[in-house]
Formats: sequence, C-alpha cells, structure tokens
Amino acid sequence: MYAQVIDTGSDRVRAIGEMPEEEKVFMARIEKGEKIEPKDWMPEGYRKTLIRQIGQHAHSEVVGQLPEGNWITRAPTLERKAILLAKVQDEAGHGLYLYSAAETLGISRDEMTELLHAGKMKYSSIFNYPTLNWADIGAVGWLVDGAAIMNQVALQRTSYGPYSRAMIRICKEESFHQRQGYDLLIKMCQGSPEQKAMAQDAMNRFWYPALMMFGPSDKDSVHSEQSMAWKIKINTNDELRQKFVDQTVPQAKYLGLTIPDENLVWNEERGAHDFTQPDWNEFFDVIAGNGPCNKDRMAARVNAWKDGAWFREGLAAYAKKLPLRKQAV
Ligand code: 3HC
Repeated sequence: MYAQVIDTGSDRVRAIGEMPEEEKVFMARIEKGEKIEPKDWMPEGYRKTLIRQIGQHAHSEVVGQLPEGNWITRAPTLERKAILLAKVQDEAGHGLYLYSAAETLGISRDEMTELLHAGKMKYSSIFNYPTLNWADIGAVGWLVDGAAIMNQVALQRTSYGPYSRAMIRICKEESFHQRQGYDLLIKMCQGSPEQKAMAQDAMNRFWYPALMMFGPSDKDSVHSEQSMAWKIKINTNDELRQKFVDQTVPQAKYLGLTIPDENLVWNEERGAHDFTQPDWNEFFDVIAGNGPCNKDRMAARVNAWKDGAWFREGLAAYAKKLPLRKQAV
C-alpha cells in the first residue's frame, strides 16, 4: 500500500498538450479555482499526493500533542493548565478532521496509522524536539503554531474541498493557540530575570526548528512544483518561511527577545529580512528518524495504539450491535 502512497507520480509536471482529455478538464477546473470533491475525477498522482500531505499533516497534529501534553500536570496555575488542556484537545480534533479528509481519498485511518508506526509516513520534524522548560510551551504556541498557521492560512485555498474546509476550522483554533503562547511569553518576559532567561532559552532552541517546518529550500523540494500546478500548495516553502521571519521579527522585539541569528537584517531592496537558513543536514537527519525525540515519540504513539485496542474493539462491537437492537425494538 505504502509503495502506492509514496509513488505520487509527481516528479514531472506535464504540459497540458500531453494530458488525456479528462485530465485537461480537471486542470481547467483547477485553473478556474473550482474545488475538487471526493467523487470527482482526479489524476492518481493528485490523489496520492493529497493522501501523503493530509496524512502527514494529521499525524503531525496527533504526535504534536506529546511535547505539550508533557506539561499539563506541571502548568504553573490552574488557568494555564485549563488553557493547555483545551489546546491539546484541539490538536487531537485537528488530527481527526484531517484523517477524515484523507479518508475521502480512499485510505482508512487505520492504514495511515499503521504506515506511521512502520516509519513509512512522516509527521512534522518539529515534534522531535523536546520541551524542556515552561517557556517552551509559550514558544510552541507562538513559533510552532505561528509557523503552522502561516502555512495553513494558504491551505484554506487548496484545491481539494475537504482539505480546504478542514483548514478553515483549524486556522480559527490555531490562531487562539498562537495567541495563548505569545501571552504566556509576554508574562514571562515581563517577569523575573530568571523567567526572561527561560523565554530566551526557549527562543534559542525553537527558532531554527520552527523555520524547518516549512520544508526544505525550494531547490530541494521534491513535490512543490507539481503540488503548486495542482494548487494543492499555494506557496513555495521558501516564500512561507520568509513571510514567517518577517512577521516574527517585530513580535520578538516587542517581547525583548533576541532571535539567535547574527545575520538577521532588514533588506531594504527586497523589502524583507535576510536571515540564516537552518542547518539542512540536521533537518534531513531529523526526518530520517534521528532527531532528539523521534524514538520516544513513536514509542508513545505505538503504545497508545496498542493500549487502545480493547476500546476500539468495544466501539466496533457496539456499532455492529446497534442496528440489530434497533431491529429487535
Ligand atoms: N517535517 C517532516 N517532513 C517534511 C517537512 C517537515 N517539516 N517538510 C518537508 N518534509 C518532507 C516531505 O514530506 C517530503 O518527504 P516525502 O516525499 O517522503 O513525503 C520531503 O520532505 C520533501 O519536501 P517537499 O517540500 O517536497 O514536500 P511538500 O511539498 O509536501 O512540502 C510541507 C512540505 C510544506 C510541510 C507540506 O507537506 C505541507 O504544507 N503540509 C501540510 C502542513 C503540515 O503538515 N503541517 C504540519 C505542521 S504541524 C501542525 O500543523 C500541528 C499544529 O498543532 C502546530
């Protein structure tokens, strides 16, 4: 199954003249900005690319609960605990919308989960970094959710209807997540010198991993060209990364935090900041499974799946019984 999933057929963008008639009609709909719906005709590569991207996105939401869930019992106040609990629950919900969107393309949630656990489907690199102090929870909200939103706002206009509609709902919730992270950091930056130092430490550790979330540089991006031709992706990885840097610099200034990049400077000519690229060797190493927390994250997910087997079986048995009971009544 996975061989089919990864073989998206997206390594070469074909000219319109090379396409069969039904694909020409499909491309004309894409050009007009029409949404493609589950029962519409679509090229196999389009379907597989969406399964790959939406599935990876869903897994990211679910695995993304782990670094924050780690802090629920250690939140410093009841209010912060309630906020964090709500946020982590939202992420689970986002995973479910996205699994449902992917299921409309002919793959089941169980299949996607199995592929994840077998290391055959990815999740976002960012969740392989640890959350070491309470300020990290602020940095995750501000920088990680901030980077996620930068991408997801554009994805609200993606060409596949169910994905685009899931994104609209998710973006509303993510913007609350980002604000709660920023609010947490405002409090810490206005607090004691120790609290400010914790915030700076979190910024130092999360800055480059957040920049990596947008994917490799455009020259190394395998899927961008085809995904943009299909309007699955609206922007390139580098475009979004640049927007994120430009948006974040004044926010860091307001907090009084230093972005850990000596080369970060406003470029008048480009009307954008110049900045140092992340260490791309580190990125490829993390997505190959060798980041600081990859093994822990996967072990936690695999164990949760095993531990939940009895519950899933119970639900399935109940669902099977229900129509029989109704019939009997
Ligand atoms: N982490 C892990 N893998 C990544 C990655 C990242 N940050 N960025 C790229 N990759 C992988 C790609 O999946 C691809 O590998 P594959 O062929 O085995 O699937 C390879 O690196 C090459 O990258 P490309 O640029 O060619 O890949 P894409 O065109 O798919 O672009 C993307 C990458 C921009 C991340 C795109 O997939 C995308 O927009 N995805 C939807 C958004 C998403 O997944 N967000 C997760 C963020 S976390 C989140 O939302 C949770 C919230 O709670 C914060």
